[in-house]
Amino acid sequence: MERSGLAVETGKPLSLSHDIAMRAFTTPPLRTARLTLRPLAEADVPALFRIHADPLAMRYWSAPVWKDEQRGRDMVARDLDPAITGHLRLGIERMPTDAVPGMLVGTCTLFDIDEQCRRAELGYMLASSAWGQGLMQEALRAFIGHAFDELVLNRLEADTDPRNQRSMRLLERLHFVKEGHFRERWIVDGEVSDAAMFGLLRRDWPAPA
Ligand SMILES: CC(C)(COP(=O)(O)OP(=O)(O)OC[C@H]1O[C@@H](n2cnc3c(N)ncnc32)[C@H](O)[C@@H]1OP(=O)(O)O)[C@@H](O)C(=O)NCCC(=O)NCCS
Repeated sequence: MERSGLAVETGKPLSLSHDIAMRAFTTPPLRTARLTLRPLAEADVPALFRIHADPLAMRYWSAPVWKDEQRGRDMVARDLDPAITGHLRLGIERMPTDAVPGMLVGTCTLFDIDEQCRRAELGYMLASSAWGQGLMQEALRAFIGHAFDELVLNRLEADTDPRNQRSMRLLERLHFVKEGHFRERWIVDGEVSDAAMFGLLRRDWPAPA
């Protein structure tokens, strides 16, 4: 999971594809009807902190609730440093409307990228205030399309807490298939939890809306 990205968050070296990771610096913004997906910037730190300081959003995450903005600064610094970046993370920015101001509402990440096998793990985080509007579905349709079509990956994996119903509904809507259940895979803040493992193959994409 970013429940995605424990490796990303700890900065532990990844079995990365430097080539794919470098795309974080060259990927043009991906645009959808309501969103722009683009690399993070230092100006995003306060929004990243608000998102990750929320116990509701962090309930099934692979790391504890953030206590200070330093975590956000570290996240952005790692993303901006080509020498250590081993993932492709894009910020999800909501376009402004008359009703809602434009703002960073989340992130999506490809990590544990295996160049030889053309596979990566997918992680995603959406501010709880933005849930229930189909925004992550919209973001991931563009991001997954980019992963298969531009990065030519063959397989994406997602690891989610089996109690995380929203996350599993999202994966199933995107045509991920549940492939396994790993017992006691995570210990976060002393809480032990299982992992539901999902996979999506390039040949099963695009998923119908
Ligand atoms: C997992 C997570 C992204 C799901 O968010 P979400 O808003 O439920 O996901 P979606 O973008 O798929 O939105 C679907 C919901 O929006 C509703 N919706 C409203 N308008 C919609 C629209 N225009 N299009 C599609 N769906 C719409 C759907 O009915 C659905 O609600 P339902 O599941 O109650 O039926 C979010 O809960 C999250 O970020 N959690 C914290 C981080 C986390 O746990 N990540 C997973 C770790 S692997």
